Amino acid sequence: MLGKSILIVDDNPASRIFFAYHLQKKQFNVLEAPMGKEGLIIAWRDQPDLILFDPTLHDIPDQEFIHKLRNDPRTTKIPLIALSTDPGPARREICLKAGVDQYLVKSARALSALEEILERIFGPEGSTGNENKNKKRGLLIIFLSAKGGTGTSSLCANVAMSLQEAQPQARVVVADLVLPIGSIGWIVGYKGELNITTVAELPSEQTNADYFHQKLPIPESWQFQLLAGSPDPQQANKLKENRISEIIEVLCLAYDFVILDIGRSLSRISLPLIQKANLIIPIISTDQSTIEMTKIVWDYLITQGVENKNIYAVLNRTVGLEESRKLEAEKTTSFTIRTTIPFMGSNLTVANNLNKPITTKYPTSTAAMILKGWAQDILRLAEEIQANSPKESAR
Ligand SMILES: Nc1ncnc2c1ncn2[C@@H]1O[C@H](COP(=O)(O)OP(=O)(O)OP(=O)(O)O)[C@@H](O)[C@H]1O
Ligand SMILES: [Mg+2]
Repeated sequence: MLGKSILIVDDNPASRIFFAYHLQKKQFNVLEAPMGKEGLIIAWRDQPDLILFDPTLHDIPDQEFIHKLRNDPRTTKIPLIALSTDPGPARREICLKAGVDQYLVKSARALSALEEILERIFGPEGSTGNENKNKKRGLLIIFLSAKGGTGTSSLCANVAMSLQEAQPQARVVVADLVLPIGSIGWIVGYKGELNITTVAELPSEQTNADYFHQKLPIPESWQFQLLAGSPDPQQANKLKENRISEIIEVLCLAYDFVILDIGRSLSRISLPLIQKANLIIPIISTDQSTIEMTKIVWDYLITQGVENKNIYAVLNRTVGLEESRKLEAEKTTSFTIRTTIPFMGSNLTVANNLNKPITTKYPTSTAAMILKGWAQDILRLAEEIQANSPKESAR
């Protein structure tokens, strides 16, 4: 990466040397600072193309370090990547809110994750000319159901959490597009003002990747960022529909995983999103009517150009029936059921009421294990999809 400079700010010499060595091998010009304050001085003086820092600096609090860089015109736009010794969600949230572009945790995968990010920012040949051109799109995953009450929103939030837990360095966003009232905010305990209607009110120049990275909340106990749904019918009526596809497009460029709950709202807004989703996850409950309605919705989607290869069907046993109905569901819909979620008794409702993920509230339950396996499956599929279409900028 001839000519591009990266400043590493890390008070752990072994770590600094390790990353400096690998970045120099990639032809980056590496600057190093063993302390935060020295890092700030070098950043302002030399204005590198990127700053990589461990937020667990001893001489300056993480938030202050980030704010100082972000608030100074010389460094406000420099990509800022945290490469942290601290895997906890609290520091991650603080750093993302304060304005870092990516938060990586030091682990066996950190170097490859960092290289991926650098390639996204600088391109394989180091061109910064058109950032989006070289940017890998995130995976668009859509949860839907043919009928209400099948567990779509609960599973959407819970699998997003498992995905983020399995890959802490990935950027995961959940967006709730269910109208007239989205319920993910209720499930994760978010009560703030920022939601799809308020974001759609803003001019598009404002709602760029940085805006979402910095403003979207990370609900307590959940780790992913949330774009909450419409809180009431009155706001739903005011929703500027024509902004939705643009907002989702920005999310796809800004995040590694964009997980949408569209519930059963098949509409002019949701159809174009379904058509470009990488994975469509219909949640099918075990009653015959839901199974048959899923078939009707799917037949319609096929006429709209949606393909079978993008489907990842999930059977959710919302009631404690003895029989599983997996075979009936597969026969009627002609899907392969990829994951079956067991009946959780009152556990899911209890976890939802406490705004906790299943994997946190009932970590040893079968459902928690299944959610983790499902997240791993999605990660595997994501790799396959991205390997088959590494640069999808033309979509
Ligand atoms: N596997 C399960 N075991 C037990 N209860 C479940 C299960 N799946 C869902 N539920 C319960 O079903 C109810 C509906 O869940 P949820 O709101 O996630 O469904 P939905 O499909 O998003 O509903 P809506 O159509 O209202 O958006 C919740 O009370 C939830 O706790
Ligand atoms: Mg729902």
